Amino acid sequence: MLKMEHVDVFLDSDNGKRQVLKDINLTLEQKKIYVMTGPNGGGKSTIAKVIMGMVIPSGGKISLDHTDITGMNITERARAGIGYAFQTPPRFKGLTVRDMLELSARGNEIDPCSIMYDVGLCAQDYLDRDINTTFSGGELKRVEIAGLLARQLKVAIFDEPEAGIDLWSFQRLIETFDRMNRKSDAIMIIISHQERILRLADQVILVKDGEIAEITGQEKILEEISLLDSRCECKKNCIKGGNENVDCDR
Ligand SMILES: Nc1ncnc2c1ncn2[C@@H]1O[C@H](COP(=O)(O)OP(=O)(O)OP(=O)(O)O)[C@@H](O)[C@H]1O
Ligand SMILES: [Mg+2]
Repeated sequence: MLKMEHVDVFLDSDNGKRQVLKDINLTLEQKKIYVMTGPNGGGKSTIAKVIMGMVIPSGGKISLDHTDITGMNITERARAGIGYAFQTPPRFKGLTVRDMLELSARGNEIDPCSIMYDVGLCAQDYLDRDINTTFSGGELKRVEIAGLLARQLKVAIFDEPEAGIDLWSFQRLIETFDRMNRKSDAIMIIISHQERILRLADQVILVKDGEIAEITGQEKILEEISLLDSRCECKKNCIKGGNENVDCDR
């Protein structure tokens, strides 16, 4: 179980310190998928970074399986089984994809080919390639996700895994998340704005203005999205004189 209690984060801004997270309280259970969603700038990635130990809260407590990890650094948290696939992944010069997967696996037996398949990359083309600037954004994103799949994690955080990923790979990724959830006991936190990812959620965490605005089942959020669609329909009708076949540009 991962628990955040009364977590506050202040970060530097042009006008001094700004509170980016306010009194975050979360209890996340093993083998569940939590989809974190909400407006841009709301604080989702910051929550992920606090869990990973990349952002230090000014107050509050974080515990994993009843052990206080608040004072642990990134490396210690990685060792404790927390993994984070970045919204914008870093590039590692001089490391091949295979090296990276093997390092991530830390001696556990893995099948690099099937991991590559899971993220929609052809093993033959990619396993022995250096993870350098020649990778496209979508390729890099998928390599980053592959790194997490190679690990045996207690907490796996995926930050906007859909970003820059084509529709075909996206479909496979959804199946991969579903399979990961069935095969492992990990707490999965997926930060996403995608309806199809929301459908995987045991619970949806809505983050807004640095606060947890709501924790709810996917049905409620999906209903809100469908209401947005109907508002969109109205807008279409206004603009295009009732032509229902025009694309909605919401
Ligand atoms: N290192 C930083 N220093 C100062 N402010 C920051 C820093 N990182 C993030 N912020 C600010 O904190 C707020 C929350 O950012 P965060 O990246 O957590 O949002 P988000 O919900 O992940 O948004 P998005 O959906 O756009 O990815 C934003 O206003 C952002 O500008
Ligand atoms: Mg973000």
